[in-house]
Amino acid sequence: MRIGIAADHGGFMLKGEVAEFLRGKGYEVQDFGAFQMESTDDYPDFVIPLARAIALGTVERGVALCGSGVGASVAANKVPGVRAGLIHDSFSAHQGVEDDDMNVLCLGARVIGPSLALELIDTFLTANFSGAVRHKRRLAKLHALEIEHI
Ligand code: RB5
Repeated sequence: MRIGIAADHGGFMLKGEVAEFLRGKGYEVQDFGAFQMESTDDYPDFVIPLARAIALGTVERGVALCGSGVGASVAANKVPGVRAGLIHDSFSAHQGVEDDDMNVLCLGARVIGPSLALELIDTFLTANFSGAVRHKRRLAKLHALEIEHI
């Protein structure tokens, strides 16, 4: 599986650990930046290219990091086809995929530590969408909304 990662300065340090963790697990990793620690950088500049790659299918899932995870999730969800969740608990990390087909996990590097972050990423990446009719129906309603606003 090809995984995209992105972070602003708030998540920059954690992104390095995430990349190493993912490569160690055998995932192919595409890094959308930031590529240097710059305290004045802006999360949309990295998260939106990641989100566009998800929408295009050039990466299958994404991990977006900022200080709180809020900006990353708001930005990622602006791109049609992206279903991003800001998640700091294990249940939601897999249930968000199983029920909601979440394709981008957002984390706040100033909120959780690296060990929990990597566990949540592992949980997210090993979960699969259930394909249940009721979940497909709900996702179809969201897709219709996206089309309406293109
Ligand atoms: C940057 O200081 C911080 O606002 C950003 O990383 C993120 O937490 C925004 O949601």
